[in-house]
Amino acid sequence: MARGSGGLAMVAGALALAGASPASAETPQIHYMLQCQGCHRADGSGSPGAVPSLRGMMGTFLTVPGGREYLVRVPGSAQSPLSDAELARVLNWMIRAFGPPAIAADFERFRADEVARVRAFPLTDVDAVRRALIRAIERARELESSSPRSGDRAIGRSGDQVIGRSGDQAIRR
Ligand code: HEC
Repeated sequence: MARGSGGLAMVAGALALAGASPASAETPQIHYMLQCQGCHRADGSGSPGAVPSLRGMMGTFLTVPGGREYLVRVPGSAQSPLSDAELARVLNWMIRAFGPPAIAADFERFRADEVARVRAFPLTDVDAVRRALIRAIERARELESSSPRSGDRAIGRSGDQVIGRSGDQAIRR
């Protein structure tokens, strides 16, 4: 998308993702731009080898045990200057913006009290936790693809789009 082009194009890209015009940019989106986008990029694509892509992954973490907590406990979230309510809204916005769409359409929204509770326990070994979650996501994908009847579950679909790529990247890190 806006990869490699100027800052203006990146902002425009983030706005386009949320389907908003600049005049109606949502507050969580502005928080994302100010606090998160420097590393994660406007379109969530990150930087290969340094910052993993969030595209298709934000919602996918919700599908494995511990993944929901991980989204809050990861340092970029837990240690951000955002309040609990602001962080909850940014995470909800990121799931909608970066998908996968099948999950973003209907997921349990983060609330401030949940964020407050989970954020109080920051991760001590982010890489190990992340690798375990990616393995769980990949295992779920394998189960999905070996069982034809469950093909309509969200993991199967999102996995086909994105997990391969970000998973590989994560494991190489
Ligand atoms: C200084 C760079 C940086 C900033 C700023 C940053 N992040 Fe991150 N983020 C990372 C890196 C690197 C990872 C991969 C896990 C790790 O090593 O912390 C990550 C991972 C994540 C993840 C989990 C996705 C995954 O694949 O592991 C979430 C969710 C996240 N960040 C949310 C945020 C939010 C919300 C903000 C802004 C409030 C933010 N980040 C700001 C660098 C950053």
